[in-house]
Amino acid sequence: MADAVVYERVGDVAILQANNPPVNALGIDVRKGLMDGMDRAEADGAKAVVICGAGRTYFAGADIREFGKPPMEPMLPGVCDRIEASPLLVVSALHGTALGGGLEVALSSHYRIAVPSARVGLPEVLIGILPGAGGTQRLPRVIGVSAALEIITSGRQVGAAEAERLGIIDRVQDGDPRDIGLAYAQSLLAEGAPRRAVCDLPNPEPVDFDAAIAATKARARGQMSPVWAVRAVQAACELPFDQGLARERELFMELMQSDQREGLIHAFFSERAVSKLPELKGVAPRALDAIAVLGGGTMGSGIATSALLAGLPVTMLEVTPEAAEAARGRIVGNLEGALKRGKISAAQFDTITQEALRLTTDYADLGAADLIIEAVFEEMEVKKQVFAKLDAVAKPGAILASNTSYLDINEIAQVTSRPADVLGLHFFSPAHVMKLLEVVVGDATAPDVLATGFDLGKRMGKICVRAGVCDGFIGNRILSTYRTAADHMILDGASPYQIDDALEAFGFAMGPYAVADLAGLDIGWAMRKRKQAEGIDPRARQCDYPDRLCEGGHFGQKTGKGFYDYAGGARARVPNPDVMPLIEAERAAKGITPRDFTDDEILRRYMAAMVNEAAKVVGEGIARRPLDVDMTLLFGYGFPRYHGGPLKWADLQGLPELLADIRTWAQDDPYFWEPAPLLEQLVAENRNFEDLNRENAT
Ligand code: 3HC
Ligand code: NAI
Repeated sequence: MADAVVYERVGDVAILQANNPPVNALGIDVRKGLMDGMDRAEADGAKAVVICGAGRTYFAGADIREFGKPPMEPMLPGVCDRIEASPLLVVSALHGTALGGGLEVALSSHYRIAVPSARVGLPEVLIGILPGAGGTQRLPRVIGVSAALEIITSGRQVGAAEAERLGIIDRVQDGDPRDIGLAYAQSLLAEGAPRRAVCDLPNPEPVDFDAAIAATKARARGQMSPVWAVRAVQAACELPFDQGLARERELFMELMQSDQREGLIHAFFSERAVSKLPELKGVAPRALDAIAVLGGGTMGSGIATSALLAGLPVTMLEVTPEAAEAARGRIVGNLEGALKRGKISAAQFDTITQEALRLTTDYADLGAADLIIEAVFEEMEVKKQVFAKLDAVAKPGAILASNTSYLDINEIAQVTSRPADVLGLHFFSPAHVMKLLEVVVGDATAPDVLATGFDLGKRMGKICVRAGVCDGFIGNRILSTYRTAADHMILDGASPYQIDDALEAFGFAMGPYAVADLAGLDIGWAMRKRKQAEGIDPRARQCDYPDRLCEGGHFGQKTGKGFYDYAGGARARVPNPDVMPLIEAERAAKGITPRDFTDDEILRRYMAAMVNEAAKVVGEGIARRPLDVDMTLLFGYGFPRYHGGPLKWADLQGLPELLADIRTWAQDDPYFWEPAPLLEQLVAENRNFEDLNRENAT
């Protein structure tokens, strides 16, 4: 790409304008273009240089697609040093998002101007690395260590006004970035302003770095990059500039070679790839101007909130006026939260609550809705009655969706005259907070209905994952398998507390038993009863003590006790003393002699169960690609992002080792540990899940 950076000369000023859509990433062509541009400006007698970007943004960072590949010269640190060392006056003009390497180029420039809508930041820690082109050395010299640490370890984007206040940019001005950059450079030349190289500034004042590292570690929950970034900033205080840069590079390379970097970059690209499906290509979604929600309980009220916040008017139907009023109360409560957090203004709050939200008990009021989401009780007969009624009142072309957690969408669609217009939209609790939406495709679901599900999710700011029909779809099906693996370990000698601790050490925000307490133990109890009624395979190992716990009235946080006792509040959880005796009684009744489990074995069994079921889900086509499973677990189940998702994690561990474990455990329990055919096939062919992602890229 010869013109990745376009050179222009206006009087004494040379303009280097990057042109590398979509985000002017600093790939090899751009880096070469900047080097050549600086050489040319110096050679042809310019007195100042303006660096800016064409299109939607100044440089949004290094080109992430180059990571993990052999480095190509010139490298970004060299480009930044070259710019900073120039005898000419260098001005960067920022718009869009000047992120990562982008901000590092700007910090190497001698002056910085930005449009008011510009945002700057060093988001490297979010993709598992640290600012590696001088950002950890230059930013603290410019704005001080405390402010720099906060920006670098959070990776957050800083608006132009705040950036000006902090001193990251010198001036904020509206206009075309090229034009304001040029005018600024001309005025600086006219004033005789000096070159200002950040590398010439003295070392910044240190802070208590032991305390900073301890605090960052506590927040990072096992993620390396923020902690490594603090060490790099420490070097800015303690070493001369060049040695600080060398230390930054050393720490950068350690992270670059880490599994966490691979996991986080996998997450970055998968988040974007997840909505790219062949069946959506060229398919326009149906119009979505008004929606309806049925059932205003936990889920329905959250779904309605999410739709209202996305700007859609919502009609909510409940069974009685009292239930409708209660639903309104829940939705208004959610919206008050949004108002408090500044997500909506007071005026928007009033419009939404007074005009956009309507409550009803009359099906006739649903006739205008383009899409109706059902969130009533999880019982097939109730769902069927509701869908038959909806079919009668919904206008032609209106889409009928169910938020069911486990039930068969095809069976539900059959009671309507329009199975092509029926799909599952499986939200997660709380629905206005959780980012995941499983879009469940039935046998008859039309492509534009699927596209509309994705469109709704996008408008709500969700990560949408396409799922096929099966008991629990992608996420809940896999969850029930890894939870079973944990239950088996408890029967054999582990405790729920050891299991939670081991998984929290791995990076989960909460272990499975703390999660169960939060969700309500009655939910699992009801599901076990349903499965019992349907008939359970006699080869499956049963685990009864959770039922005994529920029979004792312990449903988790909502009753104050579950696996844990919450007398001291939700955070101050302590083991419920009733639990271990129930477990010990069950072991004794089953003649099990408990054995010790190491944390490592707990993790290996739990993860292998997760990966094996996930491989079945992909093999059966319930999930289209391994990355769809990874995004489901990341956004719906608290899987630590820095491990990339269970199937990325599996690739990084090595599939042959994982399969060998599964085969070993299958000797004791062949029913539970039956290897997934897809896992066996990948191992036999010496391939992995990433290969499948690549082969199925659209
Ligand atoms: N490298 C390569 N591709 C990138 C990229 C990057 N840094 N940033 C974005 N892209 C790609 C996306 O993958 C996407 O591709 P697709 O259309 O094929 O899916 C396309 O650009 C558009 O991106 P988004 O869909 O995310 O567009 P948005 O407008 O929603 O967001 C953004 C734009 C805020 C710039 C967002 O893309 C982003 O956060 N990008 C990453 C920024 C970043 O992490 N920069 C630091 C990089 S590391 C670094 O600089 C190291 C240095 O310190 C040495
Ligand atoms: P809930 O019990 O809190 O709410 C159900 C609501 O539906 C009640 O307000 C009830 O009055 C109303 N309702 C019942 N029959 C109705 C009918 N015929 N017409 C209109 N309203 C009716 O239940 P929850 O938790 O909100 O679950 C709803 C659905 O969402 C279920 O299918 C459940 O499996 C699913 N789901 C639940 C999740 C959760 O974490 N609670 C997560 C994801 C899905």
